Amino acid sequence: MTGPGVDPVVRVFAADALGTTVRLRGWVLRSRSSGGILFLVLRDRTGSVQVTGRRDALGAEGFATAEHVQIEGAVTVEGTVAEDRRAPEGREVRASAITVVDAGEPFPIWTDQTEEFRLDQRHLVIRSQEHVATFRVKAEYLRACREFLDREEVLEMTPPVLSGNAAEGGAEAFEIDYFGRPGYLSQTAQLYLEALLFPHERVYALTPSFRAEKSRTPRHLTEYLHLEVELAWCDLSELLEFIERMVVATVHAVAERRPKELELLGRPPAELLALEAPFPRLEYAKAIEQLAAQGFPVHFGSDLGAAEERALTIESRSPLFVLHYPRELKAFYMTQSRTDPRTVEAADLLAPEGYGEMVGASSRETDIARLQERLGSMGVDPAAYEWYFDLRRHGNVPHAGFGLGIERVLRWMLRREHIRETTPFPRTPSRHTP
Ligand code: 4AD
Ligand code: MG
Repeated sequence: MTGPGVDPVVRVFAADALGTTVRLRGWVLRSRSSGGILFLVLRDRTGSVQVTGRRDALGAEGFATAEHVQIEGAVTVEGTVAEDRRAPEGREVRASAITVVDAGEPFPIWTDQTEEFRLDQRHLVIRSQEHVATFRVKAEYLRACREFLDREEVLEMTPPVLSGNAAEGGAEAFEIDYFGRPGYLSQTAQLYLEALLFPHERVYALTPSFRAEKSRTPRHLTEYLHLEVELAWCDLSELLEFIERMVVATVHAVAERRPKELELLGRPPAELLALEAPFPRLEYAKAIEQLAAQGFPVHFGSDLGAAEERALTIESRSPLFVLHYPRELKAFYMTQSRTDPRTVEAADLLAPEGYGEMVGASSRETDIARLQERLGSMGVDPAAYEWYFDLRRHGNVPHAGFGLGIERVLRWMLRREHIRETTPFPRTPSRHTP
C-alpha cells in the first residue's frame, strides 16, 4: 500500500505527472553531490527515479542531512516532476524536502566481491537488480502455475513436510530426531497427494522438498520448491499432455507479464513466447542409442546424468520428454510397463538448451505385490508403507502425477549458471545460513 498522500515512484512517469507535486518514499540506490546539488536515485517497489535537491531549496541543514544518507538508506521526498533529458527515463523529481527515515551505515555490498562473501551477505545482496528481477519472475511464475491449475480444476492441498516415512526410499532423506523417534523432512508430497486424490480426483501441492544430496552441482539444492500434481483417471500420455499445456501456459504468462525483468536477466521474452506444444518425445532406449553413437559410455540400464541430459537438448529450443526408463533406475511407485516389463510408465521432461531435468512424471503402480517387491529389492521394509497400500484396497483407480522443480524451471527460463541464483536463501551441502 502506498498510504495516504504517498505516490509510488512509477507515478512520476505518468502522462499527466509533469509539473505536479509528488511525495515518494524508498531507498537510495545511488547518491552524489556537486556544487550545492544533491543527486539521488530513489527506488521503491515500482521503479526508480532521479531526485535532485538544491541546497537553496532544502536549506543548509536539510541539505547536509540528506547528503549523508548512505546507499540503501531510507528517505521520503517531496518535490515537483520535471523534464530532464539527461535522466535515464527523461524525468526527475526536484525536491523541496528530503526527510531521512534511516541514513544507514555504509552499504557493504559492491560488484567485485567474492562469491563466498556475497553468499554470506545474501540478506543484503538480494536487493540487487538481478535478484529483484529474479524474484519478481519467480512470484509471477508461481502465480501463473496456481492460475493454470485453478483453471484445470486441480485443488491445492497442504500435505505435511514432516513425516515418519522417507517417501522416495530413504538414501537422500534428511533424518531428524522426532521426540526420540526417526522423522524425515519431505522429499515429495506425492504419497499424501495420492491419498488426497481419492476424495478430490485432481490435487496439487506447492511445498518445499528436501534432498540430502551431497552433490555440489549447479542444479541441486538441498531445499527446493516442489510443485506436485496428482490426477485420477489419467495415464502417462494424458499426463504428458497436461504437463506440456501447463509449461507452455505458465511460461507464456511470465513472458507477457515480466518482459523487462526477463530482458534484464538475458532471456528475451520472445524466446519464451515461441515455446509450443507438443514437446518432442524420445524413448529412453532410443536416447541411449543416440548417446552411445555420440561416444557416451552408456547402455540400456545406465542413468542419464547431467552430461547425457545436456547432450540430448543442447541444440534444442524445446523441452524434451524422455520416456520409459528402466525400472531399476526409478522410484518404487511407478507403474511397471505391461508392454516392456523392464521399464516403467514414466517420463522426465528435460529443459531446452542443456539445462536438464525439470519434471519427473509417472503413472502410479496400483498392484500391491509389485509395490512390495520393488520396496523389498531396494532394502526398504514395506511395513512402513502399509497406509499407502491401503489406498490400493479401497476404490483403487488408475492415476498419474508429476513433480516439477520450480528452481529448475527458473534456472532455464532465466539462463542462470547456478540454481542457487533462483532462490533467495539457497540451501546447499556447504551452506544453510543466512
Ligand atoms: O524426479 P523427482 O525426484 O520426483 C519426485 O520426487 C516425485 N515423487 C514427484 C511426483 O511425481 N510427485 O523430483 C521431481 C523434480 C525433478 O524433476 C526436479 O525438477 C526437482 O524435482 N528436483 C530438484 N530441484 C532442485 N534441487 C534438487 N536437489 C532436486 N531434486 C529434484
Ligand atoms: Mg527425477
